[in-house]
Amino acid sequence: MNKAVILAGGQGKRMKAEMPKPLFKVLGEPMLEWVISACEEAQIEDICVVKGYKGEMIDEYLGGRCKSVLQAERLGTGHAVMQAMDFLKEDTEGNTLVLCGDAPFIDPETIKESLIVHKHGGNAVTVITAELDEPKGYGRIIRTKTGISGIVEQKDATEEQRAIREVNSGAYWFRTADLIDMLGRLTNDNAQNEYYLTDTVGIAVADGKGAGAYKSANANIIKGANDRKDLLELNNYARMAVIEKHLINGVEFVCTDGVIIERGVEIGANTQILPGTILRRGTKIGTGCIIGPYSVAENCIIGNNVVFNTAQAYDSVIEDNVNVGPYVHIRPDSTVKAGAKVGDFVELKNSTIGEKTAIAHLAYIGDSDIGKKVNIGAGAVTVNFDGVAKSRCVIGDYSFVGSNSSLIAPLKLGKGVYTAAGTTVTRDVPDYALAIDRGELKVNEGYTLRKLKKNTK
Ligand code: UD1
Ligand code: CA
Repeated sequence: MNKAVILAGGQGKRMKAEMPKPLFKVLGEPMLEWVISACEEAQIEDICVVKGYKGEMIDEYLGGRCKSVLQAERLGTGHAVMQAMDFLKEDTEGNTLVLCGDAPFIDPETIKESLIVHKHGGNAVTVITAELDEPKGYGRIIRTKTGISGIVEQKDATEEQRAIREVNSGAYWFRTADLIDMLGRLTNDNAQNEYYLTDTVGIAVADGKGAGAYKSANANIIKGANDRKDLLELNNYARMAVIEKHLINGVEFVCTDGVIIERGVEIGANTQILPGTILRRGTKIGTGCIIGPYSVAENCIIGNNVVFNTAQAYDSVIEDNVNVGPYVHIRPDSTVKAGAKVGDFVELKNSTIGEKTAIAHLAYIGDSDIGKKVNIGAGAVTVNFDGVAKSRCVIGDYSFVGSNSSLIAPLKLGKGVYTAAGTTVTRDVPDYALAIDRGELKVNEGYTLRKLKKNTK
């Protein structure tokens, strides 16, 4: 069976953070996640991550999803793969893919196509390469008339070799049995006194076992991040690549400033994404919507023809023809049904808002189930928390909750209930009733003049 070893021992000192480098995020996901998901999309499920610096953080992220081994000392890429020896020996029949956990743009097509080349060539090792205009720092691919003969690291290379533009991506396919054999024969006899995984190429050629190179048309597979500036570049690249996919699908962007769309987000044709919009994983948006400006949606299902203006929503559902915003916060587990309006300065939490219900402004609705065609006035608040427990409010269809009503949960308002403005509703109200709690209004005529006279004596 085919499997993968992902090298994730790096620290990333120049990031100035105490975190393993592969956990730094590109478009909201750790670089390691990009690499693992590329493997999974290429149907490689048996994965071992070689961790090093702060390995426990890698394990915590993986949560048992992949195997992991620790490289206690950083003695080179060959040494790192040696740490996975037990994993390699579990099954020596197939091939092993070795990848860098901090090169996020390796893609499933490259993985699959290079495997075909690897198998066809009957190779012990197939290096995935790319041509770079600036190859400095990378291992150079040495070719002869008969094929690839070795990889020379920057620090070990001659002037002539340094002029070569084809470089090692750091990703390889190995025949597993040959990898096990070759790892045992690596030495650290080089400029960096490291066990170079790249030396396997020379060994395979010398053994007559076959070494090949698969040159990827996508040079981005090489891109990694050594510092924050590189990381920003990776983010910018990924950001525009995702936006380009949506453009092809018919999504409209007039200006992409501040627009960040994570991978896996779905957006229907003729939806417009305005500046400053951040769409996080798990979000699905229908057609004909206007999303933004300055909005965030995370793990939300948004229907068709929705206006979502300067709003934030998390783990919620917003159905067709809903109008949200500006300045709305929709917290997890909320559903806003078709045709509803959630206007400025409204917060929803764990609530259902019925069809064509209007919460036009300045309200807090938490732990509530509101029916259809309800009107919630400005300043209305569901009082769902008594300091100890949360309770629910149920508001029946066609009800009218007056401005500044406080609905003290647990509470049930029936159908067609009116609450008078300023009413504090403390018990259930039956269908078609009015709840009014109001002291008699006193108007004390001439009060101000009397007060002024007294104070100016
Ligand atoms: C390596 C390759 C080089 C290639 C480049 C692509 C070798 C000797 N050289 O160079 O040909 O062009 O990658 O980026 O392999 N790692 C460990 N433990 C170690 C050393 C490295 O886990 O002891 C991990 C790193 O965290 C990283 C990957 O292996 O994910 C590559 O290591 P890095 O130091 O970046 O390799 P280079 O020397 O730059
Ligand atoms: Ca590197």
